[in-house]
Amino acid sequence: MLRRDWLTGVAGLAGIGAVTALGQSAAAFAQQPPSLPPLKSLAPWPLGTCVQTPQLNDPQWVQLATTHFNRLTPEFEMKMETVLQADGSLNFERPDAIVDFAKSHGMAVHGHCLIWYAEDGGRFHELKGDAFLNAYVDYIRNVMGRYAGFIRTWDVVNEPVTDEGSTLRDCLWSQKLGEDYIGLAYTAAHEADPNALLFLNEYNLEYTPKKRATLLRAAERALRNGAPIHGIGTQTHIGGDVPPGAIRAAIRDIASLGLKIHVSEVDITLHEERLVNAVEPRADQLRVLDELVEAYHEVPAAQRVGMTFWGVRDIDSWQNSGPHPRPIFDEPLLFDRFGRPKPVARELAKLLPG
Ligand code: XIL
Repeated sequence: MLRRDWLTGVAGLAGIGAVTALGQSAAAFAQQPPSLPPLKSLAPWPLGTCVQTPQLNDPQWVQLATTHFNRLTPEFEMKMETVLQADGSLNFERPDAIVDFAKSHGMAVHGHCLIWYAEDGGRFHELKGDAFLNAYVDYIRNVMGRYAGFIRTWDVVNEPVTDEGSTLRDCLWSQKLGEDYIGLAYTAAHEADPNALLFLNEYNLEYTPKKRATLLRAAERALRNGAPIHGIGTQTHIGGDVPPGAIRAAIRDIASLGLKIHVSEVDITLHEERLVNAVEPRADQLRVLDELVEAYHEVPAAQRVGMTFWGVRDIDSWQNSGPHPRPIFDEPLLFDRFGRPKPVARELAKLLPG
C-alpha cells in the first residue's frame, strides 16, 4: 500500500485519534492543504530557480528544485570572481557541478553572468589597450565556449545602468573600453555560441522608469551598431511597496522593444519601508505576484523565455544570507524555511495556465 494511501486511510480514522508516520494527529494531517502540483508542469514557459553548489547535496532542496523547476541559474558561481583566477586561468569546477546536476535531472541552465560592474576580476586591472580587449573577448569566448550547445541563454552584461537611472555606470569595463564595452561583449558572445540567446539583465526596472528608459536606449543603440542582443532580463527583486501597475507598465515597455523577456531573479520581500499594505504584507505579496504573472502572460508568447525565482526556500534567499541580509528574517520565496509551499506558491499554481 502506498504511503499516501496509508496516510489517507489513517486520516479517515481521525475520529479515533490515530497518529500518522509524521507524528501529526490524523486531524492535523487531514487539515493539511493538498500537495502542490509541480509548478513547472503548469507554466507555459521555463520556470527557474537560482542555485548554489552546496544545495546540490541538500535532499530537500533537490526534491523541491527538481519537482517544481526546469531551469537553474548559478546564483554566483558562474561569475567572474569565481571563475577567473589570479593567474588568469579559469576554474570551472563549480559551474561544471551545476551543469552536470542539470544534465542528470533533465534541467536547463541559464548562464549568469559574464560582464558585471560588481565583479571585474583583479587581473583585468593590470591590463591595458589591446591586452585588455583581448583578455575581455577571450574571457567571454572561453566561458561561453565551454557550455556551447547546452547553455542556450546567457546574461552577457549585468546591471549596466546607475541606480539613479539616467546614465550607464562608470565601471572598469566602460573606463577601459568606453560605452562600446556592451556591444563588444555581445559580439564576442555571439561568436562564441551563435545559437545562444543573449540577454541584458537589470534590476529596479519597475521601480525606476528612468532607469528602464536608459537601459532600453542602451540596448537600441547597441542593436543599431550591430550588437546581437536578443533579450532583456528584468530581475524583479521587488516588495509590497511596488506601486500597483508599475510591474505591468515595466513589462509592457520592455516588450515594446520586440526582444525576448526573461523575468530573471524574482523575489518579493516582506520588509520594504513604504509597504502598500503594511497591515498584511503577505496579502501584498500575492497582489504583486498576480500583477507580475498576469502582465507576463500578456507578452507575446514568442518573446517569453520564462520566469526564474531567486531561490527555492526562504532560507535559501540572499535576502536572508547574501552580502546584505535583512535585519528580520524575510519570506520572499515560494517555499518556507521547512520546505513547505506557501500561499504565494499556491497562488502561482492558480495563476499559471496549467
Ligand atoms: C547575488 C547573490 O544572490 C548573492 O548570493 C551574491 O553574494 C551576490 O549576488 N542581481 C544579480 C545577482 O544579478 O547576480 C545578484 O545575486 C543579486 C542581484
